Amino acid sequence: MKEDFATYRVKDLLKLTDFGKEINLKGWVRTKRGNKQVAFIAVNDGSIIHSIQVVADLGQFDEELMKLVTTGSCISVNGVLVESPGQGQPVEVQARAIEVYGTADAGTYPLQKKGHTLEFLREIAHLRPRTNTFGAVLRIRHAMAFGIHKYYNDRGFVYLHSPIITGSDAEGAGAMFQVTTLDVEKPPRTETGEVDYSKDFFGKHTGLTVSGQLEGELAAMALGLVYTFGPTFRAENSNTPRHLAEFWMIEPEMAFYDITDNMDLAEDMLKYLVQYALDTCYDDLEFLNKMYDNELLDRLKFIIENPFERLSYTEAIDILMASGQKFEFPVSWGLDLQSEHERYLVEKHFLRPVILTDYPRDIKAFYMKQNDDGKTVRAMDVLFPKIGEIIGGSQREESYEKLLARIEEMHIPEKDMWWYLDTRKFGTAPHSGFGLGFERLILFVTGMANIRDVIPFPRTPQNAEF
Ligand code: 4AD
Ligand code: MG
Repeated sequence: MKEDFATYRVKDLLKLTDFGKEINLKGWVRTKRGNKQVAFIAVNDGSIIHSIQVVADLGQFDEELMKLVTTGSCISVNGVLVESPGQGQPVEVQARAIEVYGTADAGTYPLQKKGHTLEFLREIAHLRPRTNTFGAVLRIRHAMAFGIHKYYNDRGFVYLHSPIITGSDAEGAGAMFQVTTLDVEKPPRTETGEVDYSKDFFGKHTGLTVSGQLEGELAAMALGLVYTFGPTFRAENSNTPRHLAEFWMIEPEMAFYDITDNMDLAEDMLKYLVQYALDTCYDDLEFLNKMYDNELLDRLKFIIENPFERLSYTEAIDILMASGQKFEFPVSWGLDLQSEHERYLVEKHFLRPVILTDYPRDIKAFYMKQNDDGKTVRAMDVLFPKIGEIIGGSQREESYEKLLARIEEMHIPEKDMWWYLDTRKFGTAPHSGFGLGFERLILFVTGMANIRDVIPFPRTPQNAEF
């Protein structure tokens, strides 16, 4: 096939108006329809949700070649751009030559027909990017990652690469996956019979990080404004539509921010990102709005236009206790809120995002700034419709004495925390930060219902096939 036509991506072709132009396009066949004279081939190349229609006059093509052009096959087309007589598409391509890069056997290609369930698609995660739904989700996911970097870069934050393998388990955010090169069948043992991790690769017990916050704090005490954006791991057996064992987290950490500055940043960032999605991914959002959740676009616009409700944990408990609502899990001061409680506040009571602050100290991490009441800490959780908690954060305890006391009280080994305590010993400063669960953001923005459907290859208990 002649290779001298310039190759265009479908996204750009659909915008062209110079009809008669000779072009090349490459992509995967979504459908082929037609009759004895002509074939209409919908080709998608992933650049945009829409496919482009390629029209092949069968009199001009080899019959055997055309048999290979089936749903799922990959083709390269030379042709002429023409105005489309059909509805729903501005342009189409009159094929002059077609090359088949790869066939897809009609008997065995799993995406032969449309309308597969999301559950089925999870079992073929290696092929599901080829569906409209996952194309849309993955493009939106990309745009959100890019938007996050843009947001922080534009505001003078430094992107900090926190480590993935860590020797500290102090955060207490969740159970760690162990990282080891020891022979698990026959590990070296100490005289007392315990596994001897001094013989392990790093000379100590290590695991996959549950959060980059502690390292973020170290850097914030030098660079002022930093954020991390990387994978985090939690070995919890939580099989819910909102938990992954491997998820991505964005953790900004800001010197000189108090809890109010922290809330302002979280709210501003979330609104910015939703606006960014509307600005850059409208076609994909429109598709998801039509196919899965016809309140999606309205919900996204609502978030941008309305202030988040801010109240304390204690006030929230009062509202929940007075609600008369029957909850599966108990509500009382001192207990952590469950997703059903968070969603009641957001979806039934306030009808908007909610930021809860000042949680009981006993249900929150050791590093949160202690309030004068001796009972609560300066924590903040941002709760979103359909998601529940999307952000968790706090002002940090900057006092060396108070932090050390809390570490001792919680029996966290001080020998693991000396480097963290040094931040409070040398030039400590008031500071705050939070963690945004990237997949929870993508859940919200796409309107998808299950977190397994917003990450290319979900890691959940009993599932790491692809
Ligand atoms: O509330 P978390 O555990 O907070 C931290 O890890 C702090 N170190 C953050 C900080 O202050 N820098 O987690 C933060 C967010 C949650 O609000 C949630 O959106 C998400 O991370 N998250 C998960 N997302 C998917 N799967 C899981 N298993 C998650 N656990 C937390
Ligand atoms: Mg949390």
